[in-house]
Amino acid sequence: MSRTPRVGLVGLGYWGPNLARNFDDLDALGAVCDLDPALRERFASRYPHAKVYNDFDAMLSEAELDAIVVATPVATHYELARRALAAGKHVFVEKPPAMRASEMEELVALAEQQDLVLMPGHLLLYHPGIQRVKQLIDAGEIGEVYCIYGNRQNLGVIRKDENALWSLGVHDLSVILYLLDEEPDEVWAHGNAFLNPGVEDVVFCYLRFPSGKIAHMHLSWLDPHKMRKITVVGNEKMVVFDDMELERKVTIYEKGPWQPAETYGEWRTRTGDISSPRIPNDEPLRLECTHFLQLVASGPEDHKEARDGLAVVRALDALQRTLEGVRA
Ligand SMILES: NC(=O)c1ccc[n+]([C@@H]2O[C@H](COP(=O)([O-])OP(=O)(O)OC[C@H]3O[C@@H](n4cnc5c(N)ncnc54)[C@H](O)[C@@H]3O)[C@@H](O)[C@H]2O)c1
Repeated sequence: MSRTPRVGLVGLGYWGPNLARNFDDLDALGAVCDLDPALRERFASRYPHAKVYNDFDAMLSEAELDAIVVATPVATHYELARRALAAGKHVFVEKPPAMRASEMEELVALAEQQDLVLMPGHLLLYHPGIQRVKQLIDAGEIGEVYCIYGNRQNLGVIRKDENALWSLGVHDLSVILYLLDEEPDEVWAHGNAFLNPGVEDVVFCYLRFPSGKIAHMHLSWLDPHKMRKITVVGNEKMVVFDDMELERKVTIYEKGPWQPAETYGEWRTRTGDISSPRIPNDEPLRLECTHFLQLVASGPEDHKEARDGLAVVRALDALQRTLEGVRA
């Protein structure tokens, strides 16, 4: 494809405007669509060169558009993404792309059959801080990774249409699977719905991987701390990604187990320097949108993004089943 791909964006609520701004800055915004007339009017004046639609299927029939970006509520993702793929459009769908593993399998199969890009909006994977943590792991600097845990807590935003596992956990899960490069073979989630019946506000998750590595996620919108943190524990070093920090997004601790002590069963530990590499300030969403346009221009190749998205939805689906089993 010699020209910049053209995208049509559906969903102009809270998150959609960020996608519109980025795709427009990248010269790719061809159309926008929302059910809400006030939003359509606002976007028509903000982006006069983009066509405005109230009907998703009408936007899909626009031949000029190469791709569709879905930023509607989660419950609509699967259906809108499926229709877009069936219409021959590449798709960038906000997280999570589906709420059942079977639905995501169907989307991936459709994308593969049609040789179309299907990219879930796993924003954190484009964060330069997470990229740095991945480099450290892949370069062997942390040594053998033993475990990873994520803290994603705050007071609010309290949701009623998706629980803390799906709303918050999708971020940490996408990062944990990316960093470890394997899928869990055992998962457990425990939680409770304190405010809205059936919608868990506080969820604790445990994941075990075939290599023996383990992971944990504390997901909550009923918490005094605002935390956006991922900790990686290796046998050589330990690394923390903290998205609440302005400058020290990544901290490397030269700490770890050292050697067995004389006393049976005890270990000496090592404590060295604590350092913080400079992390570029690039906007993760800009990097994510750029990556999507590059994929559309080049073709999906190995469908890696779609399959990674399937692994995340599969794990979320399995965690959700244990959550329901525990509550029942
Ligand atoms: N990556 C991130 O960090 C991040 C952050 C926030 C939200 N999100 C995701 O963005 C998505 C949207 O969230 P939000 O908070 O902006 O939701 P929202 O409810 O504020 O906005 C959704 C919009 O979609 C429109 N809409 C719904 N169905 C439609 C249809 N069939 N046709 C046309 N328009 C339709 C609604 O009118 C509304 O304006 C969600 O998937 C959410 O998970 C991602």
